[in-house]
Amino acid sequence: MKPAVIIICAAALLVAGVTMALSLDSTGGRGMEVYAMQKCALCHSISGIGGKKMALDEVGSRLKPEDIRKWVQNPKSMKADTTMKAYPNLPEKDLRDLVAYLSSLK
Ligand code: HEC
Repeated sequence: MKPAVIIICAAALLVAGVTMALSLDSTGGRGMEVYAMQKCALCHSISGIGGKKMALDEVGSRLKPEDIRKWVQNPKSMKADTTMKAYPNLPEKDLRDLVAYLSSLK
């Protein structure tokens, strides 16, 4: 192969890789951003990073997406005496991305 062909191939692979990384980021990434913005990590940890109250590492296998949604919007509907803060005013899109992200933790 000529060097030019190799360079073109390498460039094409790089573009494909970056595109893939970006599309992955727009699913898990958005929810992760919401998680960070809402400061869930004050109380919760994921992969050992964050508060000590409760790890959310495998929450996607413990809870159904509807239940994760309820925990965020109205934790007292899940556990009457919980100390978790409610997030009733989260925009629908943020809530959806956040729930999708947490559901992916298995
Ligand atoms: C003030 C501390 C605090 C904050 C902030 C907080 N939580 Fe919680 N959360 C808790 C506690 C404590 C529990 C455990 C339930 C209990 O025993 O009260 C819990 C439970 C949960 C559960 C259920 C976990 C399970 O396995 O049953 C989910 C899901 C959850 N929180 C998500 C979130 C998300 C998402 C955020 C950010 C939007 C958040 N929490 C912010 C304290 C908090």
